[in-house]
Amino acid sequence: MPRCFLIAAMTLCGHIGPSPFSSPEDRQHLETWRDQTDASLMGAGTLRDADPEMRGSHGVLRENRIRAFVSASGRIPLEKRRIFLHGPPPLFFTPSHVAKSLALTLGQRGGVHPVPSLQDKSLDLKAVLAVLKTQGTASLLLEGGGGLNYQALKQGIVDELLLTLCPKILGSSNAVPLVHGPCGLKETGPWHLLDYRIGNSGEVFLHYTRTADG
Ligand SMILES: NC(=O)c1ccc[n+]([C@@H]2O[C@H](COP(=O)([O-])OP(=O)(O)OC[C@H]3O[C@@H](n4cnc5c(N)ncnc54)[C@H](OP(=O)(O)O)[C@@H]3O)[C@@H](O)[C@H]2O)c1
Repeated sequence: MPRCFLIAAMTLCGHIGPSPFSSPEDRQHLETWRDQTDASLMGAGTLRDADPEMRGSHGVLRENRIRAFVSASGRIPLEKRRIFLHGPPPLFFTPSHVAKSLALTLGQRGGVHPVPSLQDKSLDLKAVLAVLKTQGTASLLLEGGGGLNYQALKQGIVDELLLTLCPKILGSSNAVPLVHGPCGLKETGPWHLLDYRIGNSGEVFLHYTRTADG
Protein backbone atom coordinates (compact mmCIF):
# COMPACT_ATOMS: atom_id res chain seq x y z
CA MET A 1 0.00 0.00 0.00
CA PRO A 2 1.17 3.59 -0.50
CA ARG A 3 2.97 5.13 2.50
CA CYS A 4 0.65 7.77 3.98
CA PHE A 5 1.82 11.09 5.41
CA LEU A 6 -0.79 13.19 7.21
CA ILE A 7 0.20 16.86 6.95
CA ALA A 8 -1.41 19.81 8.75
CA ALA A 9 -0.68 23.22 10.18
CA MET A 10 -2.35 23.63 13.56
CA THR A 11 -2.69 26.31 16.21
CA LEU A 12 -1.54 25.92 19.77
CA CYS A 13 -5.17 25.13 20.58
CA GLY A 14 -5.32 22.25 18.08
CA HIS A 15 -7.26 23.89 15.25
CA ILE A 16 -6.53 23.80 11.51
CA GLY A 17 -9.03 26.31 10.19
CA PRO A 18 -11.15 27.88 8.94
CA SER A 19 -8.76 30.58 7.78
CA PRO A 20 -5.12 30.02 6.87
CA PHE A 21 -2.74 31.12 9.63
CA SER A 22 0.62 29.53 8.90
CA SER A 23 3.70 31.27 7.49
CA PRO A 24 5.22 31.28 3.99
CA GLU A 25 7.85 28.93 5.45
CA ASP A 26 5.10 26.44 6.27
CA ARG A 27 3.66 26.85 2.76
CA GLN A 28 7.10 25.95 1.37
CA HIS A 29 7.23 22.94 3.73
CA LEU A 30 3.87 21.73 2.38
CA GLU A 31 4.94 22.27 -1.22
CA THR A 32 8.19 20.38 -0.65
CA TRP A 33 6.21 17.41 0.66
CA ARG A 34 4.03 17.60 -2.44
CA ASP A 35 7.21 17.50 -4.54
CA GLN A 36 8.28 14.34 -2.69
CA THR A 37 5.01 12.40 -2.92
CA ASP A 38 3.03 10.90 -5.78
CA ALA A 39 -0.46 12.03 -4.78
CA SER A 40 -2.50 14.21 -2.40
CA LEU A 41 -5.87 13.35 -0.88
CA MET A 42 -8.30 15.88 0.66
CA GLY A 43 -11.76 15.80 2.14
CA ALA A 44 -14.57 17.36 0.11
CA GLY A 45 -15.15 19.81 2.99
CA THR A 46 -11.85 21.52 2.23
CA LEU A 47 -12.83 21.87 -1.43
CA ARG A 48 -16.17 23.38 -0.38
CA ASP A 49 -14.59 25.76 2.17
CA ALA A 50 -11.46 26.74 0.28
CA ASP A 51 -9.99 26.73 -3.20
CA PRO A 52 -7.13 24.22 -3.07
CA GLU A 53 -4.89 23.53 -6.06
CA MET A 54 -2.23 21.39 -4.41
CA ARG A 55 0.69 22.94 -6.26
CA GLY A 56 4.26 21.92 -5.53
CA SER A 57 7.28 24.19 -5.18
CA HIS A 58 7.51 27.14 -7.58
CA GLY A 59 3.83 26.72 -8.43
CA VAL A 60 4.44 23.50 -10.33
CA LEU A 61 1.57 21.08 -11.03
CA ARG A 62 3.20 17.85 -12.16
CA GLU A 63 1.25 16.11 -14.94
CA ASN A 64 1.74 12.71 -13.30
CA ARG A 65 0.90 13.76 -9.73
CA ILE A 66 -2.58 12.77 -8.55
CA ARG A 67 -4.84 15.28 -6.76
CA ALA A 68 -7.78 13.46 -5.21
CA PHE A 69 -10.78 14.05 -2.93
CA VAL A 70 -13.11 11.82 -0.93
CA SER A 71 -16.81 12.58 -0.66
CA ALA A 72 -19.66 10.43 0.63
CA SER A 73 -22.28 12.94 -0.54
CA GLY A 74 -20.89 13.80 -3.97
CA ARG A 75 -21.47 17.48 -3.12
CA ILE A 76 -18.62 18.97 -5.16
CA PRO A 77 -18.52 22.68 -6.00
CA LEU A 78 -17.62 23.30 -9.63
CA GLU A 79 -17.72 27.08 -9.78
CA LYS A 80 -14.70 29.19 -8.87
CA ARG A 81 -12.50 26.21 -8.06
CA ARG A 82 -9.02 26.37 -9.58
CA ILE A 83 -8.54 22.61 -9.17
CA PHE A 84 -10.58 22.23 -12.39
CA LEU A 85 -8.77 24.94 -14.32
CA HIS A 86 -5.10 23.98 -14.20
CA GLY A 87 -3.13 20.74 -14.09
CA PRO A 88 -4.30 17.15 -14.48
CA PRO A 89 -8.02 16.59 -13.77
CA PRO A 90 -8.60 15.67 -10.10
CA LEU A 91 -9.96 12.29 -8.97
CA PHE A 92 -12.98 11.83 -6.73
CA PHE A 93 -13.64 8.79 -4.56
CA THR A 94 -17.33 8.29 -3.74
CA PRO A 95 -19.76 5.49 -2.89
CA SER A 96 -21.03 3.61 -5.93
CA HIS A 97 -24.57 5.03 -5.64
CA VAL A 98 -23.13 8.55 -6.08
CA ALA A 99 -20.42 7.79 -8.63
CA LYS A 100 -22.57 7.80 -11.77
CA SER A 101 -24.27 11.14 -11.17
CA LEU A 102 -21.02 12.77 -10.06
CA ALA A 103 -19.27 11.51 -13.20
CA LEU A 104 -22.06 13.04 -15.31
CA THR A 105 -21.82 16.36 -13.45
CA LEU A 106 -18.04 16.52 -13.73
CA GLY A 107 -17.74 15.41 -17.35
CA GLN A 108 -14.13 15.91 -18.51
CA ARG A 109 -13.31 17.99 -15.43
CA GLY A 110 -12.46 15.04 -13.20
CA GLY A 111 -12.40 11.27 -12.78
CA VAL A 112 -14.66 9.33 -10.42
CA HIS A 113 -13.84 6.06 -8.65
CA PRO A 114 -16.54 4.21 -6.71
CA VAL A 115 -15.23 2.65 -3.49
CA PRO A 116 -17.03 0.55 -0.88
CA SER A 117 -18.37 2.02 2.35
CA LEU A 118 -17.79 0.69 5.85
CA GLN A 119 -20.53 -0.02 8.40
CA ASP A 120 -20.56 3.59 9.59
CA LYS A 121 -21.12 4.73 5.95
CA SER A 122 -17.65 6.25 5.65
CA LEU A 123 -15.68 5.27 2.58
CA ASP A 124 -13.11 2.53 2.99
CA LEU A 125 -9.85 4.46 2.72
CA LYS A 126 -7.86 1.23 2.29
CA ALA A 127 -9.86 0.70 -0.90
CA VAL A 128 -8.92 4.26 -1.94
CA LEU A 129 -5.26 3.39 -1.34
CA ALA A 130 -5.62 0.23 -3.42
CA VAL A 131 -6.94 2.24 -6.38
CA LEU A 132 -4.17 4.83 -6.02
CA LYS A 133 -1.60 2.03 -5.91
CA THR A 134 -2.82 0.70 -9.25
CA GLN A 135 -2.23 4.20 -10.61
CA GLY A 136 1.40 4.19 -9.53
CA THR A 137 1.11 5.93 -6.16
CA ALA A 138 3.76 4.78 -3.68
CA SER A 139 3.49 7.77 -1.34
CA LEU A 140 0.36 9.73 -0.44
CA LEU A 141 0.04 13.11 1.28
CA LEU A 142 -3.17 13.32 3.32
CA GLU A 143 -3.97 17.03 3.34
CA GLY A 144 -7.03 17.06 5.63
CA GLY A 145 -9.21 18.68 6.82
CA GLY A 146 -10.33 17.44 10.19
CA GLY A 147 -12.97 15.04 8.90
CA LEU A 148 -10.59 13.23 6.59
CA ASN A 149 -7.87 13.24 9.28
CA TYR A 150 -10.31 11.57 11.69
CA GLN A 151 -11.24 8.85 9.19
CA ALA A 152 -7.63 8.27 8.12
CA LEU A 153 -6.50 7.80 11.75
CA LYS A 154 -9.56 5.73 12.66
CA GLN A 155 -9.03 3.41 9.69
CA GLY A 156 -5.33 3.08 10.55
CA ILE A 157 -3.87 4.21 7.24
CA VAL A 158 -1.55 6.96 8.57
CA ASP A 159 2.14 6.02 8.71
CA GLU A 160 3.64 9.42 9.50
CA LEU A 161 2.45 12.74 10.93
CA LEU A 162 3.83 16.06 9.66
CA LEU A 163 2.42 18.68 12.00
CA THR A 164 3.33 22.35 12.00
CA LEU A 165 2.59 23.87 15.37
CA CYS A 166 1.88 27.56 14.77
CA PRO A 167 2.11 30.15 17.56
CA LYS A 168 -1.55 31.17 17.20
CA ILE A 169 -4.67 30.61 19.29
CA LEU A 170 -8.04 30.72 17.50
CA GLY A 171 -11.05 31.69 19.53
CA SER A 172 -13.50 31.35 16.67
CA SER A 173 -16.69 29.36 17.26
CA ASN A 174 -16.36 27.73 13.84
CA ALA A 175 -12.74 26.66 14.38
CA VAL A 176 -11.98 23.26 12.84
CA PRO A 177 -10.04 20.78 15.02
CA LEU A 178 -7.14 18.76 13.61
CA VAL A 179 -9.31 15.67 14.02
CA HIS A 180 -13.09 15.61 14.28
CA GLY A 181 -15.62 12.85 13.94
CA PRO A 182 -18.79 11.43 15.44
CA CYS A 183 -17.12 9.73 18.40
CA GLY A 184 -13.77 9.68 20.14
CA LEU A 185 -10.80 8.03 18.47
CA LYS A 186 -9.10 5.14 20.18
CA GLU A 187 -5.40 5.78 20.80
CA THR A 188 -3.76 5.66 17.36
CA GLY A 189 -0.12 5.67 18.46
CA PRO A 190 2.23 5.62 20.11
CA TRP A 191 3.80 8.09 17.72
CA HIS A 192 7.58 8.33 17.72
CA LEU A 193 9.29 11.67 17.13
CA LEU A 194 11.55 11.31 14.08
CA ASP A 195 12.56 14.92 13.69
CA TYR A 196 11.68 18.49 14.59
CA ARG A 197 12.77 21.93 13.45
CA ILE A 198 12.04 25.41 14.75
CA GLY A 199 11.03 27.83 12.01
CA ASN A 200 11.94 31.50 11.65
CA SER A 201 8.59 32.72 12.98
CA GLY A 202 8.35 30.39 15.97
CA GLU A 203 6.56 27.54 14.24
CA VAL A 204 7.66 24.03 15.17
CA PHE A 205 7.80 21.47 12.37
CA LEU A 206 7.11 18.07 13.92
CA HIS A 207 7.62 14.73 12.22
CA TYR A 208 6.30 11.59 13.88
CA THR A 209 6.20 8.00 12.69
CA ARG A 210 4.07 5.15 13.88
CA THR A 211 6.84 2.58 14.00
CA ALA A 212 9.69 2.94 16.48
CA ASP A 213 12.38 2.19 13.87
CA GLY A 214 11.04 4.88 11.48
N1 LIG B 1 -4.43 23.95 8.41
C1 LIG B 1 -4.42 22.89 7.61
O1 LIG B 1 -3.40 22.20 7.50
C2 LIG B 1 -5.67 22.52 6.85
C3 LIG B 1 -5.59 21.53 5.87
C4 LIG B 1 -6.76 21.18 5.21
C5 LIG B 1 -7.95 21.80 5.52
N2 LIG B 1 -7.98 22.77 6.45
C6 LIG B 1 -9.25 23.42 6.81
O2 LIG B 1 -10.12 22.42 7.31
C7 LIG B 1 -11.46 22.81 7.05
C8 LIG B 1 -12.23 21.65 6.45
O3 LIG B 1 -12.20 20.58 7.34
P1 LIG B 1 -13.47 19.64 7.50
O4 LIG B 1 -13.15 18.70 8.58
O5 LIG B 1 -14.67 20.48 7.60
O6 LIG B 1 -13.55 18.91 6.08
P2 LIG B 1 -12.67 17.81 5.32
O7 LIG B 1 -12.01 16.86 6.22
O8 LIG B 1 -11.86 18.51 4.30
O9 LIG B 1 -13.83 17.08 4.56
C9 LIG B 1 -14.78 16.29 5.24
C10 LIG B 1 -15.61 15.64 4.18
O10 LIG B 1 -14.77 14.78 3.41
C11 LIG B 1 -15.48 13.64 3.07
N3 LIG B 1 -14.84 12.50 3.72
C12 LIG B 1 -13.73 12.48 4.46
N4 LIG B 1 -13.40 11.22 4.80
C13 LIG B 1 -14.34 10.45 4.26
C14 LIG B 1 -14.56 9.05 4.26
N5 LIG B 1 -13.74 8.18 4.84
N6 LIG B 1 -15.66 8.61 3.62
C15 LIG B 1 -16.48 9.46 3.00
N7 LIG B 1 -16.33 10.79 2.95
C16 LIG B 1 -15.25 11.26 3.58
C17 LIG B 1 -16.93 13.88 3.49
O11 LIG B 1 -17.47 14.59 2.37
P3 LIG B 1 -19.03 14.77 2.06
O12 LIG B 1 -19.52 15.74 3.09
O13 LIG B 1 -19.04 15.35 0.68
O14 LIG B 1 -19.65 13.44 2.16
C18 LIG B 1 -16.72 14.77 4.70
O15 LIG B 1 -17.85 15.51 5.05
C19 LIG B 1 -11.39 24.00 6.13
O16 LIG B 1 -11.63 25.16 6.90
C20 LIG B 1 -9.97 24.00 5.63
O17 LIG B 1 -9.51 25.27 5.30
C21 LIG B 1 -6.86 23.15 7.13
